Amino acid sequence: MTLRVDVLTLFPDAISHYCATSVLGRARARGAWELRVHDLRDATDDPHRTVDDTPYGGGAGMVLRAEPIVRTVESHPDLVRPVVALSPSGRPFTQSLAREWAAGSGLTLLCGRYEGIDQRALDLVVDDEVSVGDFVLAGGELAALCVIESVVRLVPGALGNDESALDESFSEGLLEYPQYTKPAVVRGLEVPAVLLSGDHARIARWRRAQSLARTLTRRPDLIARRGGLDEAERALLEEVVGPVGHERLNSKGPSDPKDRAHEPD
Ligand SMILES: C[S@@+](CC[C@H](N)C(=O)[O-])C[C@H]1O[C@@H](n2cnc3c(N)ncnc32)[C@H](O)[C@@H]1O
Repeated sequence: MTLRVDVLTLFPDAISHYCATSVLGRARARGAWELRVHDLRDATDDPHRTVDDTPYGGGAGMVLRAEPIVRTVESHPDLVRPVVALSPSGRPFTQSLAREWAAGSGLTLLCGRYEGIDQRALDLVVDDEVSVGDFVLAGGELAALCVIESVVRLVPGALGNDESALDESFSEGLLEYPQYTKPAVVRGLEVPAVLLSGDHARIARWRRAQSLARTLTRRPDLIARRGGLDEAERALLEEVVGPVGHERLNSKGPSDPKDRAHEPD
């Protein structure tokens, strides 16, 4: 079964062009996924193809009207479910959600614009709302592309042999270790000697320790969410990295909810 993504947007070219590029373009060429882009203006019924109007109750800006959205969904009964609206008010989009959607038959993404979408469109045709972070974009297109790219690259066969989605940030609730490529010295900075050793077990231990240390210092909330570090992980950190981040070993992570905006796996 090929994963299909439908996108409802006022900027179909922005979606189509990006999805024809790089990893997404190659994955489509391999038949790993299909894309259908729907222009919300095609579902308007006035000569000006109006999609927005002023907000009831007053206030700045315009609101994306419900009717073009509802009509677009109704006129395409084969749209893939769930229908997901991109919204700063949605639940956080995470790697685990990307995995869940990559394992399904696909999804439909609704891109908002202006001050947002008339609530009745959300009530009538939308199954879920996701946010790509605690910041506000001008429209849902970039957010939709984030979702598409992170989902598609997890679809079996989407990536070539030289690309891997297995061993990377969030794959185990941890951030990825630092990466290095040739040459061995860049502006006087040497690649860590262990990576030149050819000792695969040592390299794996070093990477694991770096991954733990980086997560501990940059995203202690992820460490707290997986229940802290176990004895073996503490010992590995101590042995390979030393006291770096030691003060955080017992950290339960930030208590401020806004610091926990990125849901881990
Ligand atoms: C300018 S924003 C609307 C912001 C809205 N007035 C609010 O305060 O929540 C326009 C559109 O951009 C998209 N958008 C903006 N930020 C987003 C985010 N962090 N995640 C997902 N979509 C976002 C949504 O589709 C939204 O309807």
